[in-house]
Amino acid sequence: MINVAIMGHGVVGSGVAEILINHSDRITEKVKTPLNVKYILDLRDFDGLSYSDKFIKDFNIILNDSEVKVVAEVMGGVNPAYDFVKSCLKAGKSVVTSNKELVAAKGAELIKIAEENNVNFLFEASVGGGIPILRPMVQCLAANEITEISGILNGTTNYILNKMIVDNMDFDSALKLAQDKGYAEKNPAADIEGHDACRKVCILAALGFGKHVYPEQVKTEGITDITLDDVEAADTFGCVIKLIGQAKKLADGRVTAHVRPTLVSRDHILSGVNGVFNAILVNGDQTGDVMFYGKGAGKEATASAVVADIMDCAKHLEARKYLSWEDGSDNYVANDIDEKGKLFVRLKSDNYDELVTRFHSVFGTEGFHYVKNQFTKEITFITEEDFESNINKKLAEFKDCQVKTIHTML
Ligand code: HSE
Repeated sequence: MINVAIMGHGVVGSGVAEILINHSDRITEKVKTPLNVKYILDLRDFDGLSYSDKFIKDFNIILNDSEVKVVAEVMGGVNPAYDFVKSCLKAGKSVVTSNKELVAAKGAELIKIAEENNVNFLFEASVGGGIPILRPMVQCLAANEITEISGILNGTTNYILNKMIVDNMDFDSALKLAQDKGYAEKNPAADIEGHDACRKVCILAALGFGKHVYPEQVKTEGITDITLDDVEAADTFGCVIKLIGQAKKLADGRVTAHVRPTLVSRDHILSGVNGVFNAILVNGDQTGDVMFYGKGAGKEATASAVVADIMDCAKHLEARKYLSWEDGSDNYVANDIDEKGKLFVRLKSDNYDELVTRFHSVFGTEGFHYVKNQFTKEITFITEEDFESNINKKLAEFKDCQVKTIHTML
């Protein structure tokens, strides 16, 4: 028998406890020995559960119990999770976590501590909830050089955008619905401002490219400025707006990393990823694009990935899993480079006739798709592919107008 402790009994933690306890037979069969949940750490009381006797409030009980070999950290946030995880690893306990904030901020350091203490630190649930992505990327795609990782990494924002696209709901109503359904938190900032997706980009980039990317290095933009008008305008160009996280390897060894609302063609596979689902495209030099799709959030899906990591640790108490990357560095992420692409642009001016004349003199009349609307006094278009600096130079000629730009994957 192997003793396990769970730190945190929130949505994911309770799911982990339930799977371990309710499905102990199949887990025992697969691990070849029973996993016993010895402690559940939480400051709150949970009376009336079949496992209420396992709750403790003092972390030191777990730390000082040499019988506990595997600890699941599902509390969230960097503190005190960071101190707890570090102490457990140093005490020779393997740790698994679903905490993307912790891994994105401290992953390289915690992996090193795990290595030094000959234990494992696994975090499959930190990206894509129940989607197997980190292990397949590291193990099954091991023969590839990974060049690009991109995708829909946040279920809440995907749900909100989907409601705007399909049901014509405005942003505030869609957010409220997401909160009512329990997808978005009361304070939804981490999701709608892109921080959650940013942390996942950090972890994917670190694993895919071998070096830590820190959250502050990722250019992050959420969906709070996306309006129903933007969604409708994108639709007239055969596109949907998605929150896309992306990391790319550059020829000079550096990487780019960003999270931003992006126009995606309805022909692109990511355009069909709806509701709270996530999808991640990993491009390997041998495989081309491989897509990972599934429930990116939710109690059972996320808990399933945490439990799988616990089982993996239990099966490898004496062996190390090779999941690691180097520390990051200041100039590793090259977000200042002038990227080539196409921008989706909305120009609006009360002086509509003059706007039309100026638009054609700056951008020309051919080679790109534009829509003129004299009633809304707006011109909407997708630029030709060019360096962003060149496009922005042209847009600077419209300083006196309303200008809104959204990146594209076109
Ligand atoms: N709030 C996250 C999401 C949960 O909506 O995707 C998983 O990180």
